[in-house]
Amino acid sequence: MEIRVEAGDITRAAADVVVVNLFEGVKAPGGGTGAVDRALGGAISETIRLGDLSGKANEFVLLYTHGRIPAPRVVVAGLGKAAEFTVDSVRNLAGNLVRYLRRPGIETVATIAHGAGIAGLPPAACAQAIAEGALLGGYRFTRRKGTGTKDENGAEGPKRLIIVEHDAAKVPEMQAAVERGRILAEAVNFARDLANEPSNYATPTVIAERAQELAHELGLECEVLERADAERMGMGAFLAVARGTDEPPKMIRLAYRGKGGEGYDLALIGKGITFDTGGISLKPAQNMEAMKADMTGAVSVIAAIGAIARLKAKVDVVAIAPCTENMPGGHATKPGDVAVALDGKTIEIINTDAEGRLVLADAICWARKLGARRIVDVATLTGAVSVALGDQCYALLTNDETLASQVEAAARAAGERTWRLPMFKEYEEQLKSDVADLKNTGGRNAGTITGAKFIERFVEGTPWVHLDIAGVDMAEKDRGWIVKGASGQAVRPLIHLALALADSG
Ligand code: BES
Ligand code: MN
Ligand code: ZN
Repeated sequence: MEIRVEAGDITRAAADVVVVNLFEGVKAPGGGTGAVDRALGGAISETIRLGDLSGKANEFVLLYTHGRIPAPRVVVAGLGKAAEFTVDSVRNLAGNLVRYLRRPGIETVATIAHGAGIAGLPPAACAQAIAEGALLGGYRFTRRKGTGTKDENGAEGPKRLIIVEHDAAKVPEMQAAVERGRILAEAVNFARDLANEPSNYATPTVIAERAQELAHELGLECEVLERADAERMGMGAFLAVARGTDEPPKMIRLAYRGKGGEGYDLALIGKGITFDTGGISLKPAQNMEAMKADMTGAVSVIAAIGAIARLKAKVDVVAIAPCTENMPGGHATKPGDVAVALDGKTIEIINTDAEGRLVLADAICWARKLGARRIVDVATLTGAVSVALGDQCYALLTNDETLASQVEAAARAAGERTWRLPMFKEYEEQLKSDVADLKNTGGRNAGTITGAKFIERFVEGTPWVHLDIAGVDMAEKDRGWIVKGASGQAVRPLIHLALALADSG
């Protein structure tokens, strides 16, 4: 979808539909909505009077203009209560809007800059949110469909979105914000594309190829460790997971130097289990197909570093994605086996289904060797996080208040919600092993916390945040910028974090 900002009068826009808006409870619309209402001889205020338009959030009312303005249709979008309206509402509105406008005959959409008028939000932030919302909310995964990109009624969705701004002086900064929004949204959609792919398409090999393509395009450094390389280096935790599969595992590293310093200001580590059967501790058949998305962390960090490079952030970032299938097989790790991680720690593998923390352990050891000063890992780590938090937020666990606040701020900037879980040292007792330095599961209680406690042992005091996204990585339905399937949550927060670190020097 092409998106641009133009100076002009919304009532004169040449488009298949003009979009204006209304706060809940407003009887006499003002601003762009008022101008369109007057041009239509009061059609919008009449619709309000009749009770067919209330301005509630997520309400869309379609009117026909009968030649009174150049566009044949007007859509009035409800903004909800003025007191609850934020830039996040704008992003969600744009997502809902592009799906609502997915109908025959609608190719060009002209809209006012929701939020930037009467609501008084910063125009650039609103323009960026509209771009993000439209590109994210309009996303569909159709690659494995024979019918292509058309939906049931033959519509492809809008092709052009024109944000019409009456104050020409604001247009350049709004246009720049739209470009930023596009970079952020395209990163999310890159991650969604790979997460939605079935595991026979998104193999570790394919993810490594995509990483290499990205590196080539953006001039990033890219290194892919094969099984033999990982063996030589001593990544025994990663390899313990990869033992059961014939699909070649890949430990992927991408590096971006926006500052040109030593080491890295930030390491982004993403769990990349391209399919999690559970291994010898086999999962039940019910819903096992969802485990094709157990690599969301990996593709999120790859997507994020790509966007960080595109935005030319002045910060040095490394992304590491340990990718493998977790399969039962003749060589597979068995419960009770002991693996030796890259830092020499021995791990008793009680449950082969607790594999994410194993691949993360070696990736984190590697990041530390490379001189990472901060570590953020993203992982679909535990089913327990869904029990605790559902799909309204994801868990944040940390050993560092400063970095945690920075990640929280980055999530807020992206319109995503995190929630802290405690890291009391007593939880670590659940990981005591009789035969090794630690074991990979801490029993049923506090599963998300003991997962993080395991990872913490490998960060060795480096400031670190763990994001357990297992409850939010796949959405059950469309809502705002999120669409059913891979949600792409955590990608934009990682980008915002790198931008904030660049600003803070
Ligand atoms: N990939 C799963 C976690 C998961 C579950 C993600 C449901 C998305 C939806 C992870 O590897 C796993 O199996 N975790 C175990 C850990 C346990 C064995 C300590 C779990 O949550 O049951
Ligand atoms: Mn598992
Ligand atoms: Zn898993």
